Amino acid sequence: MIQTPYYLIDKSKLLQNMEKIATLRELSGAKALLALKCFATWSVFDFMRDYMDGTTSSSLNEVRLGHERFGKETHAYSVAYADYEIDEVVSHADKIIFNSIGQLNRFEKQSSGIIRGLRLNPGVSSSSFDLADPARPFSRLGEWDLKKVEPVMDLISGFMIHNNCENGDFDLFDRMLGEIEQKFGPLLKKAAWVSLGGGIHFTGDDYPLEKFAERLKRFSGEYGVQVYLEPGEASITKSTTLEVTVLDKLYNGKDLVVVDSSIEAHLLDLLIYRESAKVHPNQGPHRYQVCGKSCLAGDIFGEFNFENELNIGDRISLQDTAGYTMVKKNWFNGVKMPAIAIRELDGSLRTVREFDYTDYEQSLS
Ligand SMILES: Cc1ncc(COP(=O)(O)O)c(C=O)c1O
Repeated sequence: MIQTPYYLIDKSKLLQNMEKIATLRELSGAKALLALKCFATWSVFDFMRDYMDGTTSSSLNEVRLGHERFGKETHAYSVAYADYEIDEVVSHADKIIFNSIGQLNRFEKQSSGIIRGLRLNPGVSSSSFDLADPARPFSRLGEWDLKKVEPVMDLISGFMIHNNCENGDFDLFDRMLGEIEQKFGPLLKKAAWVSLGGGIHFTGDDYPLEKFAERLKRFSGEYGVQVYLEPGEASITKSTTLEVTVLDKLYNGKDLVVVDSSIEAHLLDLLIYRESAKVHPNQGPHRYQVCGKSCLAGDIFGEFNFENELNIGDRISLQDTAGYTMVKKNWFNGVKMPAIAIRELDGSLRTVREFDYTDYEQSLS
């Protein structure tokens, strides 16, 4: 048995997403790039590479990782590049997408050897959370004024538009793409490629994949563009669990258990967006609040039902913990960082990374 805490990536579950991505690419002609901001656990890149076209990034470190560990097409994007990093970014990328006309002009010379694009902001999004809404008022994410973009069209050949966020509703995607066409149609006609970003939950159960493919193909035909998608969450959804062990039990008006992990350190995104972790099947007569071991009073994974009473030493699998988790894990309280393990297609388990005191010590100085 592997020592908890550890993230467990199940390749057979990952495969289900990969097969849907492969089907979509085939039906629509769109290319799919893994968004490394969401998931960058490169031990499974050899496996994912056969189903995807490459990676997209949000920093120098990510574009380098994509280039070195994934290969194939490597898109560089960042909200802003610094002078000291641009040459290295360009050396790892075959496309660079600037967030603003200011950055495009600033790095025109350094980026002239690769394909260039610009991020557009259509002013609409599917986000219901201000924090994650690229179309929020005064957003810094992309250019929105057609008149300003027209004059730099000779410097670029395509666009990136990311305005879907956790969007599992095809009709909403379709409507928003319609608005993008209305707003940016004349620019799209001049482009050779358009990336529609991430945030589209097309690998989810019951998503109308064929309708989605047809819409992408129609968009591609109408404007004569190669369509790209940048799935992060959709690539890895439901593929991974965080395995933890009960360390203590308390009763403070509710039954509580403390586990050898921390939501703040190991599933930070849930805390930021005020979401509960997930336990499956979450049924049975024994209800517990499952708490983390950091000092944060609100370090709570959630309240769940279990078939049996929980005891010290029992293990709990927190579900669906691949996206925005391993990339955000941190050393808060010095809590032991979860190892990373993979369940191979034949069912065998393999630990690919363990973290120890040296990693903690070396993360500071
Ligand atoms: C530009 C861009 N592309 C892709 C993604 C990946 O999104 P998701 O993980 O929701 O698919 C994001 C997420 O914020 C993004 O900002």
